Amino acid sequence: MIIIKNGALVTPQGLRRADLAMEGDKIVRIAAAIEPGEDDTVQDATDCWVFPGFIDGHTHMQCWTGMDWTADSFETGTRAAVCGGTTTIVDYATADRGVTMPDALVEWHHRADGTCTANYAFHMALAEWNERNRADLSAMREAGVSSFKTYFAYDHLRLDDAETLEVLEELKRVGGILCVHCENGTLVNALQKRVFEQGIHGPEGHALSRPDVCEGEAVSRLLYLAHLAGDAPVNVVHLSTKLGLEAIRAAKARGQKNIYVETCPQYLMLDDTCYLEQGEDGFAGAKYVMSPPLRHAGDRAALREALVAGEIDTIATDHCSFNLHGQKDRGRDDFRAIPNGGPGVEHRPVAIATSFEGQLGPEDLCRLMSENPARVFGMYPRKGCLAEGADADVCVWDPQARWTIRAATQHQAVDYTPLEGFEAHGRAKAVFVNGVLAARDGEPTGAQPGRYVPR
Ligand code: URP
Ligand code: ZN
Ligand code: ZN
Repeated sequence: MIIIKNGALVTPQGLRRADLAMEGDKIVRIAAAIEPGEDDTVQDATDCWVFPGFIDGHTHMQCWTGMDWTADSFETGTRAAVCGGTTTIVDYATADRGVTMPDALVEWHHRADGTCTANYAFHMALAEWNERNRADLSAMREAGVSSFKTYFAYDHLRLDDAETLEVLEELKRVGGILCVHCENGTLVNALQKRVFEQGIHGPEGHALSRPDVCEGEAVSRLLYLAHLAGDAPVNVVHLSTKLGLEAIRAAKARGQKNIYVETCPQYLMLDDTCYLEQGEDGFAGAKYVMSPPLRHAGDRAALREALVAGEIDTIATDHCSFNLHGQKDRGRDDFRAIPNGGPGVEHRPVAIATSFEGQLGPEDLCRLMSENPARVFGMYPRKGCLAEGADADVCVWDPQARWTIRAATQHQAVDYTPLEGFEAHGRAKAVFVNGVLAARDGEPTGAQPGRYVPR
């Protein structure tokens, strides 16, 4: 057995000073004091918080996003995740147009199986709606995929309103939640053209061409469609604006049920002034080109307040990494050619713990980054919970650790981090995945215990 001793366990009942024993891939005992036998290994957790491993419900590893392949593979991305305390990712497999969902699932397994340090599950994104996809939803459920995604933006991915409504209705029937990328794609296309023609070609054009209205309108539209589908379950992913938040509040005030909300550290910690960052070659603003874009400080403040007030269910990263040099810089003369997305899977727990120190306690961090993602995506209480019988995914967290986030020392396989120079408070001291020590003090052990998580 591995016994974690002297820590403060973050359990659904609150902080509990207790020991925890793991055997194989399960938590087998939680008690005030567990005495180790001769063959047992002890992990000391004095002055530490012991979390159920963090879950990142929104990643894009090893995928083609329409412009380029992401920099992180499943191997590098899940290794980086575990170094930061995240023991499970839910990644977006995508059935592109002309590809069936079962074929896409086979392809994503081919990419991930046998290479992962963290556990992994798959959402399934649909780029078209047809009878084949309708018929395959049940097969997806049987293959352990209980969450799906559609887009309102990106020409090669997006569905129209009637199609989105049908997906929602069908998922309500077979069981499943729809995650939706809420930006009005028609408007974005028109505004991109307009901004470019005005002579704005640099990264700041990205934010100017995707204003908050594009998100507010799309969130509102999604929630009306979900209501029309009988309050079908929806997850508004990467919420970034006050307008989007207000649309969610309005729908909830009307009594609509089954609305879940995700945001990401970048929308809680950064703002659109980042697009003006020059760096050595005047193109550093491209690091922050992601969709939705970084927003005004007022949006950030509204989201932070909503998070602390309990209005947001989960914090995920939307990790979708591209190198600044060799990938993003291909859009040097045209912001529309900069691959969209940024890295974050390694730093989410410490970024949120530090940024919200004094506002969010360990139970809140657990709820937002472990328990709720497990609940929303059908893994609870096997994951997201320290309890006897739960999976042995455990993060021993030292809240006293102090260190600085640097691209030079990160494990994400990308040449920058949006959090360069951030003074981090806390660190994942020991991270267990399926009962195997996979990272210690932010460094990987080399083990690859990650497994597919059918849901
Ligand atoms: O810019 C981003 N976020 N790229 C990843 C795809 C998405 O929209 O989630
Ligand atoms: Zn998205
Ligand atoms: Zn995404």
